[in-house]
Amino acid sequence: MLTDNIDKIHTTDMGVMRIKRNLCLTTGDVVSWCKNAIANADLTVRQGKNWYVYTDGFVITVNARSFTVITAHKIKGNVRVMTDNDYECLKEFLYQAIFIPKGIEPPKREIIFEKEIYIYIDGFGKQAGDLGVVAEQNGQTVGAAWTRIIPAYGHIDDRTPELAISLLPEFRGLGIGTRLMKRLFDVLKENGYKQTSLSVQKNNPATRFYERLGYELVTESLDRANGEDYLMIKKL
Ligand SMILES: CC(C)(COP(=O)(O)OP(=O)(O)OC[C@H]1O[C@@H](n2cnc3c(N)ncnc32)[C@H](O)[C@@H]1OP(=O)(O)O)[C@@H](O)C(=O)NCCC(=O)NCCS
Repeated sequence: MLTDNIDKIHTTDMGVMRIKRNLCLTTGDVVSWCKNAIANADLTVRQGKNWYVYTDGFVITVNARSFTVITAHKIKGNVRVMTDNDYECLKEFLYQAIFIPKGIEPPKREIIFEKEIYIYIDGFGKQAGDLGVVAEQNGQTVGAAWTRIIPAYGHIDDRTPELAISLLPEFRGLGIGTRLMKRLFDVLKENGYKQTSLSVQKNNPATRFYERLGYELVTESLDRANGEDYLMIKKL
Protein backbone atom coordinates (compact mmCIF):
# COMPACT_ATOMS: atom_id res chain seq x y z
CA MET A 1 0.00 0.00 0.00
CA LEU A 2 1.18 3.48 -0.79
CA THR A 3 -0.12 4.87 2.50
CA ASP A 4 2.15 2.43 4.41
CA ASN A 5 5.11 4.21 2.82
CA ILE A 6 3.93 7.77 3.26
CA ASP A 7 7.20 8.78 5.02
CA LYS A 8 9.18 7.82 1.91
CA ILE A 9 7.22 10.20 -0.35
CA HIS A 10 9.48 12.87 -1.86
CA THR A 11 9.93 14.74 -5.12
CA THR A 12 12.59 16.56 -7.14
CA ASP A 13 13.00 20.31 -7.73
CA MET A 14 11.49 19.79 -11.18
CA GLY A 15 8.61 17.88 -9.57
CA VAL A 16 7.91 20.78 -7.20
CA MET A 17 7.79 23.20 -10.14
CA ARG A 18 5.58 20.93 -12.27
CA ILE A 19 3.11 20.21 -9.47
CA LYS A 20 2.82 23.88 -8.41
CA ARG A 21 2.30 24.97 -12.02
CA ASN A 22 -0.18 22.22 -12.97
CA LEU A 23 -2.34 22.58 -9.85
CA CYS A 24 -1.85 26.34 -9.33
CA LEU A 25 -0.66 25.58 -5.77
CA THR A 26 0.52 28.44 -3.59
CA THR A 27 1.91 26.27 -0.77
CA GLY A 28 5.68 26.33 -0.19
CA ASP A 29 5.74 22.71 1.00
CA VAL A 30 4.63 20.62 -1.97
CA VAL A 31 5.78 17.31 -0.41
CA SER A 32 3.62 17.79 2.70
CA TRP A 33 0.72 18.79 0.45
CA CYS A 34 1.18 15.56 -1.55
CA LYS A 35 1.48 13.41 1.59
CA ASN A 36 -1.75 14.86 2.94
CA ALA A 37 -3.53 14.33 -0.40
CA ILE A 38 -2.27 10.73 -0.57
CA ALA A 39 -3.38 10.01 3.00
CA ASN A 40 -6.88 11.35 2.23
CA ALA A 41 -7.24 10.07 -1.34
CA ASP A 42 -10.61 9.12 -2.85
CA LEU A 43 -8.96 6.35 -4.88
CA THR A 44 -5.43 4.96 -5.27
CA VAL A 45 -4.69 2.70 -8.23
CA ARG A 46 -1.46 0.81 -9.06
CA GLN A 47 -0.87 0.72 -12.82
CA GLY A 48 2.45 -0.44 -14.25
CA LYS A 49 5.36 1.28 -12.52
CA ASN A 50 3.25 4.02 -10.92
CA TRP A 51 0.63 4.68 -8.32
CA TYR A 52 -2.14 7.08 -9.39
CA VAL A 53 -3.76 8.90 -6.50
CA TYR A 54 -7.12 10.58 -7.15
CA THR A 55 -8.32 13.28 -4.80
CA ASP A 56 -10.49 16.40 -5.04
CA GLY A 57 -10.30 16.59 -8.83
CA PHE A 58 -6.51 16.00 -8.95
CA VAL A 59 -4.42 12.97 -9.91
CA ILE A 60 -0.95 12.55 -8.41
CA THR A 61 1.54 10.18 -10.10
CA VAL A 62 3.99 8.43 -7.76
CA ASN A 63 6.77 6.06 -8.84
CA ALA A 64 6.00 2.78 -7.03
CA ARG A 65 9.64 1.76 -6.53
CA SER A 66 11.23 5.04 -5.40
CA PHE A 67 8.13 6.80 -3.97
CA THR A 68 9.04 9.90 -6.00
CA VAL A 69 6.06 12.10 -6.85
CA ILE A 70 6.58 12.49 -10.58
CA THR A 71 3.78 14.90 -11.39
CA ALA A 72 0.21 15.93 -10.59
CA HIS A 73 -2.59 17.12 -12.87
CA LYS A 74 -6.16 18.22 -12.72
CA ILE A 75 -8.41 15.27 -13.68
CA LYS A 76 -9.57 15.90 -17.24
CA GLY A 77 -10.88 12.60 -18.58
CA ASN A 78 -10.00 12.14 -22.23
CA VAL A 79 -13.22 11.46 -24.19
CA ARG A 80 -13.21 9.18 -27.24
CA VAL A 81 -15.59 7.05 -29.29
CA MET A 82 -16.19 3.52 -27.93
CA THR A 83 -14.63 0.58 -29.78
CA ASP A 84 -15.27 -3.19 -29.56
CA ASN A 85 -12.59 -3.45 -26.84
CA ASP A 86 -14.66 -1.22 -24.56
CA TYR A 87 -17.80 -3.36 -24.53
CA GLU A 88 -16.56 -5.46 -21.60
CA CYS A 89 -16.44 -2.38 -19.35
CA LEU A 90 -20.15 -1.70 -19.96
CA LYS A 91 -21.05 -4.12 -17.13
CA GLU A 92 -19.29 -1.82 -14.66
CA PHE A 93 -20.87 1.33 -16.05
CA LEU A 94 -24.33 -0.26 -16.18
CA TYR A 95 -23.97 -0.98 -12.46
CA GLN A 96 -22.70 2.54 -11.77
CA ALA A 97 -25.69 4.00 -13.66
CA ILE A 98 -28.12 2.58 -11.08
CA PHE A 99 -29.37 5.42 -8.93
CA ILE A 100 -28.76 4.84 -5.21
CA PRO A 101 -30.50 7.48 -3.06
CA LYS A 102 -28.57 8.68 0.02
CA GLY A 103 -28.77 6.25 2.94
CA ILE A 104 -29.81 3.30 0.76
CA GLU A 105 -27.63 0.18 0.66
CA PRO A 106 -26.12 -0.31 -2.85
CA PRO A 107 -27.69 -3.30 -4.65
CA LYS A 108 -25.66 -6.47 -5.31
CA ARG A 109 -23.61 -6.34 -8.53
CA GLU A 110 -25.63 -9.26 -9.97
CA ILE A 111 -28.62 -6.92 -10.28
CA ILE A 112 -27.36 -5.90 -13.73
CA PHE A 113 -28.20 -9.38 -15.04
CA GLU A 114 -31.92 -8.83 -14.44
CA LYS A 115 -33.58 -8.85 -17.86
CA GLU A 116 -34.89 -5.28 -17.87
CA ILE A 117 -31.44 -3.95 -16.85
CA TYR A 118 -29.16 -6.23 -18.88
CA ILE A 119 -31.01 -5.26 -22.07
CA TYR A 120 -29.02 -1.99 -22.00
CA ILE A 121 -25.76 -3.86 -22.80
CA ASP A 122 -26.67 -7.40 -23.92
CA GLY A 123 -24.84 -8.11 -27.22
CA PHE A 124 -23.90 -4.43 -27.48
CA GLY A 125 -22.45 -3.27 -30.78
CA LYS A 126 -24.56 -5.41 -33.12
CA GLN A 127 -27.74 -3.33 -33.54
CA ALA A 128 -28.42 0.01 -35.26
CA GLY A 129 -28.31 2.70 -32.57
CA ASP A 130 -25.59 0.92 -30.53
CA LEU A 131 -23.26 3.91 -30.18
CA GLY A 132 -21.05 5.08 -27.35
CA VAL A 133 -18.21 7.14 -25.97
CA VAL A 134 -15.85 6.59 -23.04
CA ALA A 135 -13.70 8.81 -20.82
CA GLU A 136 -10.20 7.73 -19.84
CA GLN A 137 -7.77 8.93 -17.23
CA ASN A 138 -4.22 7.51 -17.25
CA GLY A 139 -5.43 4.65 -19.45
CA GLN A 140 -8.22 3.71 -17.04
CA THR A 141 -11.82 3.92 -18.28
CA VAL A 142 -13.58 6.19 -15.79
CA GLY A 143 -16.90 6.84 -17.54
CA ALA A 144 -19.11 5.76 -20.41
CA ALA A 145 -22.21 7.01 -22.23
CA TRP A 146 -24.00 4.86 -24.77
CA THR A 147 -27.26 4.51 -26.65
CA ARG A 148 -29.48 1.65 -27.82
CA ILE A 149 -32.87 1.24 -29.44
CA ILE A 150 -34.50 -1.25 -27.09
CA PRO A 151 -37.91 -1.78 -25.44
CA ALA A 152 -36.60 -0.41 -22.12
CA TYR A 153 -37.64 2.29 -19.63
CA GLY A 154 -36.79 5.22 -21.93
CA HIS A 155 -38.13 3.83 -25.22
CA ILE A 156 -39.88 6.26 -27.58
CA ASP A 157 -39.74 4.68 -31.07
CA ASP A 158 -37.38 2.74 -33.31
CA ARG A 159 -35.64 5.89 -34.55
CA THR A 160 -34.79 7.26 -31.08
CA PRO A 161 -31.75 5.74 -29.35
CA GLU A 162 -32.07 5.70 -25.55
CA LEU A 163 -29.12 6.93 -23.54
CA ALA A 164 -27.37 5.53 -20.47
CA ILE A 165 -24.42 7.18 -18.73
CA SER A 166 -22.29 6.81 -15.63
CA LEU A 167 -18.91 7.64 -14.19
CA LEU A 168 -16.95 5.89 -11.46
CA PRO A 169 -17.90 7.70 -8.22
CA GLU A 170 -14.48 9.37 -7.77
CA PHE A 171 -14.79 11.07 -11.16
CA ARG A 172 -18.25 12.65 -10.78
CA GLY A 173 -18.91 16.37 -10.64
CA LEU A 174 -15.76 17.33 -12.62
CA GLY A 175 -17.41 18.11 -15.96
CA ILE A 176 -16.49 14.76 -17.58
CA GLY A 177 -20.16 13.69 -17.91
CA THR A 178 -21.00 16.90 -19.75
CA ARG A 179 -18.19 16.30 -22.24
CA LEU A 180 -19.22 12.64 -22.71
CA MET A 181 -22.78 13.72 -23.49
CA LYS A 182 -21.77 16.42 -25.98
CA ARG A 183 -19.49 14.00 -27.82
CA LEU A 184 -22.22 11.37 -27.91
CA PHE A 185 -24.72 13.90 -29.34
CA ASP A 186 -22.23 14.53 -32.18
CA VAL A 187 -21.84 10.78 -32.78
CA LEU A 188 -25.63 10.36 -32.90
CA LYS A 189 -25.99 13.24 -35.38
CA GLU A 190 -23.20 11.81 -37.56
CA ASN A 191 -25.23 8.57 -37.63
CA GLY A 192 -28.37 10.37 -38.80
CA TYR A 193 -30.37 10.41 -35.57
CA LYS A 194 -32.61 13.41 -34.87
CA GLN A 195 -33.33 12.85 -31.19
CA THR A 196 -32.34 10.75 -28.17
CA SER A 197 -34.34 9.75 -25.09
CA LEU A 198 -33.70 8.59 -21.54
CA SER A 199 -35.42 7.53 -18.36
CA VAL A 200 -34.32 8.97 -15.03
CA GLN A 201 -35.68 8.75 -11.52
CA LYS A 202 -37.28 12.05 -10.57
CA ASN A 203 -35.15 12.44 -7.42
CA ASN A 204 -31.82 11.67 -9.15
CA PRO A 205 -29.65 14.83 -9.24
CA ALA A 206 -28.81 13.78 -12.81
CA THR A 207 -32.20 15.24 -13.92
CA ARG A 208 -30.69 18.74 -13.55
CA PHE A 209 -27.67 17.61 -15.55
CA TYR A 210 -29.92 16.36 -18.37
CA GLU A 211 -32.03 19.55 -18.38
CA ARG A 212 -28.87 21.63 -18.69
CA LEU A 213 -27.91 19.54 -21.71
CA GLY A 214 -31.23 20.31 -23.40
CA TYR A 215 -33.40 17.33 -22.43
CA GLU A 216 -37.12 18.04 -22.03
CA LEU A 217 -39.70 16.16 -20.01
CA VAL A 218 -42.11 14.01 -22.05
CA THR A 219 -43.99 12.05 -19.38
CA GLU A 220 -43.80 10.93 -15.77
CA SER A 221 -44.49 7.31 -14.89
CA LEU A 222 -44.00 4.77 -12.12
CA ASP A 223 -41.07 2.35 -12.39
CA ARG A 224 -41.05 -1.27 -11.21
CA ALA A 225 -40.22 -0.18 -7.65
CA ASN A 226 -43.09 2.35 -7.73
CA GLY A 227 -40.57 5.19 -7.90
CA GLU A 228 -41.38 8.12 -10.15
CA ASP A 229 -39.50 8.24 -13.45
CA TYR A 230 -39.13 10.99 -16.01
CA LEU A 231 -39.08 10.13 -19.69
CA MET A 232 -37.01 12.83 -21.40
CA ILE A 233 -36.10 13.73 -24.99
CA LYS A 234 -33.29 15.77 -26.45
CA LYS A 235 -33.63 17.07 -30.03
CA LEU A 236 -30.25 16.87 -31.77
C1 LIG B 1 -24.88 11.79 -13.81
C2 LIG B 1 -23.40 11.79 -14.17
C3 LIG B 1 -23.18 10.92 -15.41
C4 LIG B 1 -22.99 13.24 -14.49
O1 LIG B 1 -21.63 13.27 -14.85
P1 LIG B 1 -20.64 14.28 -14.07
O2 LIG B 1 -19.33 14.27 -14.74
O3 LIG B 1 -20.70 13.97 -12.62
O4 LIG B 1 -21.41 15.66 -14.37
P2 LIG B 1 -20.79 17.10 -14.60
O5 LIG B 1 -19.67 17.32 -13.67
O6 LIG B 1 -20.54 17.29 -16.04
O7 LIG B 1 -22.05 17.98 -14.21
C5 LIG B 1 -22.45 18.05 -12.84
C6 LIG B 1 -23.88 17.59 -12.68
O8 LIG B 1 -23.96 16.18 -12.67
C7 LIG B 1 -24.90 15.75 -11.69
N1 LIG B 1 -24.18 15.01 -10.67
C8 LIG B 1 -23.03 15.32 -10.07
N2 LIG B 1 -22.68 14.36 -9.17
C9 LIG B 1 -23.66 13.45 -9.26
C10 LIG B 1 -23.87 12.21 -8.62
N3 LIG B 1 -23.03 11.74 -7.70
N4 LIG B 1 -24.96 11.50 -8.95
C11 LIG B 1 -25.82 11.96 -9.90
N5 LIG B 1 -25.66 13.13 -10.54
C12 LIG B 1 -24.59 13.85 -10.21
C13 LIG B 1 -25.53 16.97 -11.11
O9 LIG B 1 -26.69 17.29 -11.90
C14 LIG B 1 -24.47 18.02 -11.35
O10 LIG B 1 -25.02 19.29 -11.50
P3 LIG B 1 -25.31 20.17 -10.20
O11 LIG B 1 -23.98 20.31 -9.54
O12 LIG B 1 -25.86 21.43 -10.75
O13 LIG B 1 -26.27 19.42 -9.38
C15 LIG B 1 -22.51 11.24 -13.01
O14 LIG B 1 -22.60 12.12 -11.91
C16 LIG B 1 -22.86 9.85 -12.55
O15 LIG B 1 -22.26 8.89 -12.99
N6 LIG B 1 -23.86 9.72 -11.63
C17 LIG B 1 -24.28 8.44 -11.11
C18 LIG B 1 -24.96 7.60 -12.17
C19 LIG B 1 -26.26 8.20 -12.66
O16 LIG B 1 -27.04 8.76 -11.92
N7 LIG B 1 -26.47 8.05 -14.00
C20 LIG B 1 -27.67 8.52 -14.64
C21 LIG B 1 -28.71 7.44 -14.56
S1 LIG B 1 -30.23 7.96 -15.35
